Amino acid sequence: PAPEALNRAKSLFAVIPDYPEPGVTFQDITPVLADPEGLTTLAEALLAPFAGQFDLIAGIEARGFLLAGAMAGLTNARGGSAGVLTIRKAGKLPSPAAKVSYELEYGSAAIEAPDVLRPGHRVLIVDDVLATGGTIAACRELVTELGAEVVGATAVMKVEALDGEKIAGEVHSLFSC
Ligand code: PRP
Repeated sequence: PAPEALNRAKSLFAVIPDYPEPGVTFQDITPVLADPEGLTTLAEALLAPFAGQFDLIAGIEARGFLLAGAMAGLTNARGGSAGVLTIRKAGKLPSPAAKVSYELEYGSAAIEAPDVLRPGHRVLIVDDVLATGGTIAACRELVTELGAEVVGATAVMKVEALDGEKIAGEVHSLFSC
């Protein structure tokens, strides 16, 4: 996308100070998702480095689902081929194929994958925010454990101060804060 389109998308973020706790600034992508041009710009920019390199886009619950859906829709509408893989918070899937636990800043969490991955599948991971990197790292582990290949990871926003790529590996991000 053109720099103007990206700037316009960035201007639509809702920036909420002291949420979910004092000292944390929450970057809410909801208004960008609600804007047709903004949504397309995000999907195009998230996909740009990975065209033709994946079979499935793994969206991480919850906002990653929406991005993965938009990205797969765009890929398929433009002659490519992509399905969506929903990476869920633990306990939501009736028959998960695998589960990975990881550390949060306080406490721990776990994610699960449905039973659709097969050896040879090439997977692009997407999420809205890269913070500590724990979530994307766990997703990489989950996909790999199921015999598929992670071809890349992409996120809308990177929290610069947390240096999440140390844990998550390389993540293509559109904006940083
Ligand atoms: C947020 C965000 C990422 C994750 C990033 O999800 O959507 O998934 O945190 O953090 P990390 O890099 O430190 O792992 P959240 O836990 O708020 O869940 P939600 O998407 O269901 O609201």
